[in-house]
Amino acid sequence: MNEVNDCSRRTVFARVGVACDHGGYPLKEEICAVLRSMGIEYGDLGTDSGDSVDYPDYARRLAGKVAAGELDAGILICGTGIGMAMAANKIPGVRAAVCSEPLSTRLTREHNDANILAIGARIVGPALAEEMVRCFCTTPFSGGRHARRVEKIAELERDSSQCEREV
Ligand code: RB5
Repeated sequence: MNEVNDCSRRTVFARVGVACDHGGYPLKEEICAVLRSMGIEYGDLGTDSGDSVDYPDYARRLAGKVAAGELDAGILICGTGIGMAMAANKIPGVRAAVCSEPLSTRLTREHNDANILAIGARIVGPALAEEMVRCFCTTPFSGGRHARRVEKIAELERDSSQCEREV
């Protein structure tokens, strides 16, 4: 087993939230089962069926709790993962990454301190999603030079109106 797929490490998050839209609903159920098997305390923030809903509502619900510190991290699932990540990243303090395989999942934890993993249920099957969730929940942030860069992301959030004036 290579380093990317080594899911035997300790979990780095105590409380994780999971939310999805109708496109992500079946995969959300599988992901909740993975979190249970890892012994991670998780909050299921819906949706709870395949009935059509709007993904920004669920991104907002979960990302708000991550930003407020009620959750250490979150997993968002929609058709592609993209809309969920776009919406979640509007909330200061959230660093949501769309990933489709374990390597970028591990690297976004190590380098970007991603606190939300966004997965596309139309892109990623259940077995790969399980590997990614295990990588996401067991990979610590590397800190060091990456901490300086992540702090610059936070600066961008604080100074976004200033940036507009610079161009
Ligand atoms: C819903 O049809 C779809 O647009 C949504 O699940 C997601 O893929 C958006 O990014």
